[in-house]
Amino acid sequence: MKAFDEIARRAMLGKFRKDGGAGYTYYHCRRVMRLALALAGSDELRGREIDLKALSVAALFHDVGREIDDDRHCEAGRDFVLRELASLLDADMLERVATLVLRHNDPVNLESEIIHDADLIDHCGAAGIWRYFHLFAHRRESADEAARNYDEKKGEWLMKHAEWAIFQTAKREIERRLGLHESFMREFRRELDGRIDQNL
Ligand SMILES: [Fe+2]
Ligand SMILES: [Fe+2]
Repeated sequence: MKAFDEIARRAMLGKFRKDGGAGYTYYHCRRVMRLALALAGSDELRGREIDLKALSVAALFHDVGREIDDDRHCEAGRDFVLRELASLLDADMLERVATLVLRHNDPVNLESEIIHDADLIDHCGAAGIWRYFHLFAHRRESADEAARNYDEKKGEWLMKHAEWAIFQTAKREIERRLGLHESFMREFRRELDGRIDQNL
């Protein structure tokens, strides 16, 4: 995977994302690759035939298109794979990886379903909280506005992640991570209100 990682770093690491900071796309893609492999190795998927090579390469490049054309990032990612990975993969594998990148939001096979769920997991949890607040700060919002906007956004989008996930293992991990969001936001609002617990 070293040669792939070098290409991924070159394409994504130097870029800044307002929703996640320096190199966010690269670090997100690398986490999604690890999460995808963890899902592939889970009890739920035991015995299923999974192309681990296509899965890991596609997961590592699934959002590379964000740095090229944010609005059509799936198509831009597919084109990037076909262009930049052609010398490292045989024609069949290249086509498979390109399809997985293209369809990571709209899965067509087991490997794309796994990347889809790994992607959802990575939006949630401590890394997700970092991402939201980075975005809010980048928009020059105050902490109070950020807390309010987070609550609105959470309702319409974030809390649906468990529902959108395909595998039970992913749903459970997302629910666990969203529990952290709940307790973090409870504490955040408490601190913003200047409350003190006198029973400690
Ligand atoms: Fe994406
Ligand atoms: Fe992603």
